[in-house]
Amino acid sequence: MIDLHNHLLAGLDDGPESFAESKMILDKSAKQGIVKLLATPHKKDVLESKSSGIVVNQVHLLNEYATQSDLNIKVFVGMENHLDDNLCHQAMNGIAFTINYGSYILVEPPYTDSFDLDFYSQLNELQANGLFPLIAHPERMKGFKNNPNLIENLKNTGNFIQITSGSVLGKFGSAVEFFSKTLLDLGLVDVISSDTHMFKGKREQDLLDAYRVISKEYGEEFAENIFYKFPETCLLGN
Ligand SMILES: [Fe+2]
Repeated sequence: MIDLHNHLLAGLDDGPESFAESKMILDKSAKQGIVKLLATPHKKDVLESKSSGIVVNQVHLLNEYATQSDLNIKVFVGMENHLDDNLCHQAMNGIAFTINYGSYILVEPPYTDSFDLDFYSQLNELQANGLFPLIAHPERMKGFKNNPNLIENLKNTGNFIQITSGSVLGKFGSAVEFFSKTLLDLGLVDVISSDTHMFKGKREQDLLDAYRVISKEYGEEFAENIFYKFPETCLLGN
């Protein structure tokens, strides 16, 4: 599997505070069969603390640790980018990190009750500059109002959809679980990622549990596409 949304880097956002815990998250991810993992600290926190260099350095240190410990996993540079008027400029200038420096970008919509024209024009601007927005966890956001039409519209206008493994597993409540299944049934989900924030607890690495549920309910080929093939396309960046 490939995990495209993970806050395992230490001391940057609401992920772990210690690098020791980062390594524990990496161990657990490898044990679950994750072979590639995108580090996605929140852009806001990274830029406020001027920590872009720390992101790159920690990814490097985690890859060194993986090699030394014989873990079959590789970590890549990314970011969870909240969408605003600055994002396109920041992404084009390497201030906001795209997925593995390629043309896909993990975008977090604003936590609002509904989306105005700015939301759609900011996504359009990213696309007009050659980027492919991957929308982070819409199933958990009230702006989407459990409305698959809003998500279908995003898909039809050149965006891609990432949902969270914990949503499928019922960790965010039955309404989110139901909405996630609806999106899966309608073929509106491109990738399921963990959005891990900690070694142990509600936001722990649980991608394997979700893989088991999805492969049982939707079949191996379906699971292969959303846990490996599409994420690999995002990492390759073209
Ligand atoms: Fe996240």
